[in-house]
Amino acid sequence: MWCDRVAWQRVGGLLGFVLTSVVAITPAAVEAENEVSSAEVPVALARSTDKGAVACVSPAAAEVGRAILQRGGNAVDAAVAVAFALAVSWPEAGNIGGGGFMLVAPPGQAVTCFEFRETAPRAASVDLLADGSVTAWDVRAAGVPGTVRGLALAHARFGTLPWRELIAPAIDLAERGVLVNAALARSLNRVLEDKRTTQPEFRRLFQAPNGRRWQEGDRLVQRDLARTLLRIAQDGPDAFYTGSIAQLIVQEMRRSGGLITADDLKAYRPQERVPIAIRYRDCEVYAPPPPSSGGITLALMLQMLEALDWKSQGRWSAETYHYLIEVMRRAYADRARHLGDPDFTRIPPHLTSKEYARRLAAGIRRDKATPSAEVAPDLEIRPEGESTTHFSIIDRNGLAVSTTYTLENSYGCRMAVGGAGFILNNEMTDFNPRPGITTVGGLIGTPPNQIAPGKRMLSSMTPTIVRQRGQTVLITGSPGGRTIINTVLCVLLNHLDFGMSAEQSVAAPRLHHQWLPDMARLEPLPPGHDELPAQLRRKGHHLVFGRQGDAHSIFVDPQTGRRTVVADRRIDGAIGIE
Ligand code: DON
Repeated sequence: MWCDRVAWQRVGGLLGFVLTSVVAITPAAVEAENEVSSAEVPVALARSTDKGAVACVSPAAAEVGRAILQRGGNAVDAAVAVAFALAVSWPEAGNIGGGGFMLVAPPGQAVTCFEFRETAPRAASVDLLADGSVTAWDVRAAGVPGTVRGLALAHARFGTLPWRELIAPAIDLAERGVLVNAALARSLNRVLEDKRTTQPEFRRLFQAPNGRRWQEGDRLVQRDLARTLLRIAQDGPDAFYTGSIAQLIVQEMRRSGGLITADDLKAYRPQERVPIAIRYRDCEVYAPPPPSSGGITLALMLQMLEALDWKSQGRWSAETYHYLIEVMRRAYADRARHLGDPDFTRIPPHLTSKEYARRLAAGIRRDKATPSAEVAPDLEIRPEGESTTHFSIIDRNGLAVSTTYTLENSYGCRMAVGGAGFILNNEMTDFNPRPGITTVGGLIGTPPNQIAPGKRMLSSMTPTIVRQRGQTVLITGSPGGRTIINTVLCVLLNHLDFGMSAEQSVAAPRLHHQWLPDMARLEPLPPGHDELPAQLRRKGHHLVFGRQGDAHSIFVDPQTGRRTVVADRRIDGAIGIE
């Protein structure tokens, strides 16, 4: 069971089990970012090993991580190298102009969280986004980037190889060019064909040769980015925050009307934080604390589930789906009500208590959906972006790293820093846009996540590590905005509660509910469960269908220590083994 190679696959409208192999399976083209067609193929690719391993979205970055592990680097060294490599090879989400969260689990020691979420520039006022004139594609949507100092902090705490050696492969990739595969070609063509991509510098950097569309087999060369990475390699992270790259960022702000100043960059500090630890069944689940909402929302959901008899009818029953949706609805309402940057807002401690989760769970009706308006009639939330990336790494000694980082939307605000070759995030749109205004149209105006100078915007990124008796058994996480937390929940439950294999746990259809809009989103169901949507509708649930997440994960057998490395193939996915 542990190493089997079975994953869900849907071909031509038929769902069926198929045998997958270590040879890449090409998923059906997924043109729209999140819609699913009847030919959708949620599959995963798995390999089993006793060695160090990497699972991530990009083949070039997986190879960089593999090579670092093989040279004797540990998992944090590999994570730093993979993060820089993804900034070159997966530019829609890999970044140096954004931010994220990295969980590190050193064997025999406490799990820790490096938080490098962006901050609001000092010039950002509470109503920056209020009148709608600052869109997601405006340079004023950029927060102060955290990635470079965040990676440097993790490296200073745990790294063993020299900093510059970890950036060298990314420089090489940028200079020689990344081999464009189908997923990268699709991603680049999509952003270039979008009329909202207006900055000439962005187009200059990412245009395909001779003005045609990108094709598999092309090379994406990024010489400006190579120069920027070389400066970071040679001069350290301060090159980005106080040195020549900071100057280029400030020049770009002047040119395009942005808010980030030299003082904002100089003042940026990543944090090392204590993760949220959740006791679930016989495991400890670790996930990021605020300013990520991931850990607390996951704690609410897992602890509500522990208080319910929710799975006796099996994984694909309407009853199980119903309970999951109800649990998600309640946890996400509390997320919206209470969570924000802990340096600016008080996070109520009861949110992670088992007693509070039991009380919430007691309000769930067995046969009937609770309308979201009834759960928290005074609050409402708005949609958010869909591009981020997650990678999981373990080294031969069992040091585990789970990292999710992002530019917020695909290619961030689609503004590159002139002469520096990298893109800026549009993370400011993760703040609540209109203070005090909560509407049925989806705005939330509650204070915890309103803009303030220097404040971190609330995130859903949930890089997660599960331990059993102190030993890492699972490393996972995903992109997908607010769906991230539910993708992680699905992977955990598939494995811990339903005993699915590593590969099935990642491939199996997921579901999402985020309180508002009052709508559950389902991935296409396994064979023989066509009646499930109708059963859920009869209970009062509103349904849509869509693809969800991209959860590159590593599972460790607690008995043998053997690792099963799983690349999710919903977008693209690759495995590197030492
Ligand atoms: O931090 C967050 O929660 C969002 N900025 C993440 C955006 C995202 O995941 C988009 N991804 N696919």
